[in-house]
Amino acid sequence: MKYRTIGTGPNRREVSVLALGAMLFGSVTDEKTSFALLDRYVEAGGNFIDTSDNYAFWTDGGQGGQSEELLGRWRRSRGAGAEIVVATKLGARPLAPGTSYTDNPEGLSAKVIRESSERSREKLGMERLDLLYAHIDDHTVPQRETVEGFGALVAEGTVGLLGVSNQAVWRVERARALAAAAGLPGYEVLQYQHSYLRPRADVPDDLFPDGSLGHAGAELAGYLRAEPALTLVAYSPLLKGAYARPERLPGDYDHPGTPARLAVLREVARETGATPGQVVLAWQIGHELPILPLTGVSSLAQLEENLAAVDLELSEEQRARLDAAH
Ligand SMILES: NC(=O)c1ccc[n+]([C@@H]2O[C@H](COP(=O)([O-])OP(=O)(O)OC[C@H]3O[C@@H](n4cnc5c(N)ncnc54)[C@H](OP(=O)(O)O)[C@@H]3O)[C@@H](O)[C@H]2O)c1
Repeated sequence: MKYRTIGTGPNRREVSVLALGAMLFGSVTDEKTSFALLDRYVEAGGNFIDTSDNYAFWTDGGQGGQSEELLGRWRRSRGAGAEIVVATKLGARPLAPGTSYTDNPEGLSAKVIRESSERSREKLGMERLDLLYAHIDDHTVPQRETVEGFGALVAEGTVGLLGVSNQAVWRVERARALAAAAGLPGYEVLQYQHSYLRPRADVPDDLFPDGSLGHAGAELAGYLRAEPALTLVAYSPLLKGAYARPERLPGDYDHPGTPARLAVLREVARETGATPGQVVLAWQIGHELPILPLTGVSSLAQLEENLAAVDLELSEEQRARLDAAH
């Protein structure tokens, strides 16, 4: 395993360069399989696990929480301690069963930040959440309130690092500026969808009907270049299995750049004896920008394949060819 630092200051952490997504653990993925995946990931040196207070509400029409509860049971049964970094999120939990984050989200008020983080700590069995993200934006609450709400938890020691997901770059920058001006900690880990193939920016995606806010595009890349203290955690780097099963490729990837990039990806995969998915993960891990892929898996075979990508070194020439394709 290889490691990189997330965050700055006393709460910064050394985490494995491949994070494990627990989104479907405890719902779609049964407990026995989930435990086996977590055990193998940790055995291989992995220590960065991702969840959210709303996972996976859509699987049973409830409000979510199965993933955090499963992680809590796993942590307790394994005696897992501070060596395992667990990141969770709040803000997108539906306020009532049968609703969604699109129409009825908990949001980012000071009250929600306090109450939901307490619920997450309880479910996970952690006195302190290592990394807490704002899952989606909330335009109904003044940003200062959100910034102060998160800052209070860090000051009390119930949260280590702060992160943000799926917000417009200008909102992230504004929140960080508000925090800096108030002498409070700001978001340091940015979680966005990012892969080798690029989506069209002009068509709404499934998650964000108003536009592709959740995608890490050129603007976010520029922001990361300007702010070296930030890390991009790249969710759905394998496009939910589409590199192995192309029929899974979402509609917003249907444009002329996709076949061009896929051709180079397959070429490099042949040269290295790796799978296209492994090349994608290796490309992200060795990227000039601090990108940390966050994959989901439903079997040990998938996990082994993804773990092996950590040791795959791409040559400068292969990297340049991958970057140039469009
Ligand atoms: N911040 C956000 O809004 C947000 C949104 C989405 C996800 N996330 C986080 O990111 C994590 C990962 O997201 P994701 O599940 O969409 O990521 P992903 O890694 O792109 O997709 C995971 C799926 O791809 C398939 N897969 C994985 N490895 C494979 C392999 N080696 N060969 C073939 N197929 C493979 C599996 O599909 P099958 O199980 O069908 O075989 C697996 O369930 C989540 O668990 C969650 O923690 C965050």
